[in-house]
Amino acid sequence: MLSFAGPAWQPEPMIVGAVVPAAGRGVRLGGAAPKALRELAGEPLLVHAVRGLRAAPSVGTVVVVVPPALVEPVRALLAAYDVVVVPGGAERQESVSLGLHALPPDVDAVLVHDAARCLTPPAVFEAVVVALRAGADAVVPVLPVDDTVKRVDGDRVVETVDRSALRAVQTPQGFRRDVLWQAHAAASGLRQHTDDAGLVEALGRTVVVVPGSEEAFKVTRPLDLLLAEAVLRAR
Ligand code: CTP
Ligand code: MG
Repeated sequence: MLSFAGPAWQPEPMIVGAVVPAAGRGVRLGGAAPKALRELAGEPLLVHAVRGLRAAPSVGTVVVVVPPALVEPVRALLAAYDVVVVPGGAERQESVSLGLHALPPDVDAVLVHDAARCLTPPAVFEAVVVALRAGADAVVPVLPVDDTVKRVDGDRVVETVDRSALRAVQTPQGFRRDVLWQAHAAASGLRQHTDDAGLVEALGRTVVVVPGSEEAFKVTRPLDLLLAEAVLRAR
């Protein structure tokens, strides 16, 4: 974890933008509509996600990346939230890259936040921004791994992994804009990573961690929708 103790530390002025990848189909969730438009407590998942981001005071421009056929309907759906809506690509990494191209030039830090983590508390966004302002190139929110984890080969266990040093990684992932830009440029056409910090690690840059939140879980499978409904009822 970062610590910013000491009288010398001053926050850097920094213009923070966000890219929200929401262009996936949601194959594991199933259902007819793309995941971003699946309803949660009577509203599309994407509306919950954008409302959460808009509740984070540090975040300025928000670029939402959606399936190409949904650009116009999503613009109408999110008209009240002052966001930019652009078409995404076949893979998440491509969608993020397309979103980065739509950020205004004055933005110097970027939060990449999965629409599917639609109930992320505003405090997580703020914690990531604080770490960026303290000078980090890249920041990820993490949680400890609760299950015992084993490496397998087919149907046999090879080993039990020491989970004390493992972390489950969430979004928003925060980056200095130039670092993320360089990471995406270097990765273009190569193996697809499941997160953006992985691209920055591949550059050899340091990624720091801040505490994540259980409520920032990703809606991936049908059970997650039930959990999300329950969280909203409890709020
Ligand atoms: N995403 C995206 N563009 C893609 C694929 C994914 O913008 N081509 C986004 C999703 O919309 C989601 C986030 O990346 O907000 C995390 O991806 P995931 O949870 O895997 O969502 P899906 O890819 O939609 O789901 P699945 O893998 O089950 O199809
Ligand atoms: Mg996916």
